[in-house]
Amino acid sequence: MRTSKDFFRPLAVGAPAPLREIPARPSRAIHFFDPSNEKMAAKIPAMVGTVDVLLGNLEDAVKADNKVAAREGLVRIAQSTDFGPTQLWTRINSLDSPWVLDDLTTLVPAIGEKLDVIMVPKVQGAEDIHYVDRLLAQLEAKAGISKPILVHAILETARGVANIEEICAASPRMQGLSLGPADLAADRRMKTTRVGGGHPGYLVRQDPASSSEDDINAPRAIFQQDLWHYTIARMVDACAMHGIYPYYGPFGDIADVVACEDQFRNAFLLGCVGTWSLHPKQIAIANRVFSPSVEDIKHARRVVAAMGDGTGAVMLDGKMEDDASLKQCLVMVELAEQLAA
Ligand code: GLV
Ligand code: MG
Repeated sequence: MRTSKDFFRPLAVGAPAPLREIPARPSRAIHFFDPSNEKMAAKIPAMVGTVDVLLGNLEDAVKADNKVAAREGLVRIAQSTDFGPTQLWTRINSLDSPWVLDDLTTLVPAIGEKLDVIMVPKVQGAEDIHYVDRLLAQLEAKAGISKPILVHAILETARGVANIEEICAASPRMQGLSLGPADLAADRRMKTTRVGGGHPGYLVRQDPASSSEDDINAPRAIFQQDLWHYTIARMVDACAMHGIYPYYGPFGDIADVVACEDQFRNAFLLGCVGTWSLHPKQIAIANRVFSPSVEDIKHARRVVAAMGDGTGAVMLDGKMEDDASLKQCLVMVELAEQLAA
């Protein structure tokens, strides 16, 4: 099967940047667990193989009194579990907290060989990534760890959003970015108290038929808008430009699986490769949403076959396909192959 590399000729003007040599392992759902919660931690070994990423969370949602227990719990789980195809990530405490130095100096020597990615919260600029990168390099060298641990930044401050390009480019360790809608909303002084998702107040109302009072007061269609559209689109562009992966983030209303699926799907359509899962039932939603559908894959393969050498235009089912739509289809086919591998 041809890949996009066969078609993205190096000299082609505006060809998309190839993803850097970061492992193209599926990470549709990054499932968060609190390693200080013994009941939750006991379930982790059985989740291996059912989810692309298991993330031991040390930051927000872990009580200050439990920070040490969470760190030690993560070490215990990592040392006693064979993660097989599932990646192991952690979210360390923020760089301005009293816990982060111990997080890194404990985790890297103890379980650095097993840790795929370290998620860094509240990243403000390249200097935060440089700090983590340097410290990781020193700790890895001291512990004799040969496989560099990758870094993932959460976009959850206005300054972080403003500095998004330099954050993406700050280190070859950069694996991706996630949206952190709760912290970002607070930092921007947005007036929503929800963790991700939409808001019924953020809407557009259809114009009245005329400016007469009757028409203005008549019922009119309202369309709820996506509060996170701007930031997700910004993040997707920056990640694509720098060859790293964009992710949605948390959807806090666990009971509302319908709205959760909608939010995840918007992110998938815009270019995100995955999302966070805060509850086991969000794993199935993420796995479904962040995988191309059977129909999309079938269509994409038909276009690839019909386009021959990849140039020119063909008509399929009354629609025009050309070099550019072929590239769109290759995105689907490659994702399908990566997920099937
Ligand atoms: C996640 O960390 C968020 O703040 O939404
Ligand atoms: Mg946060």
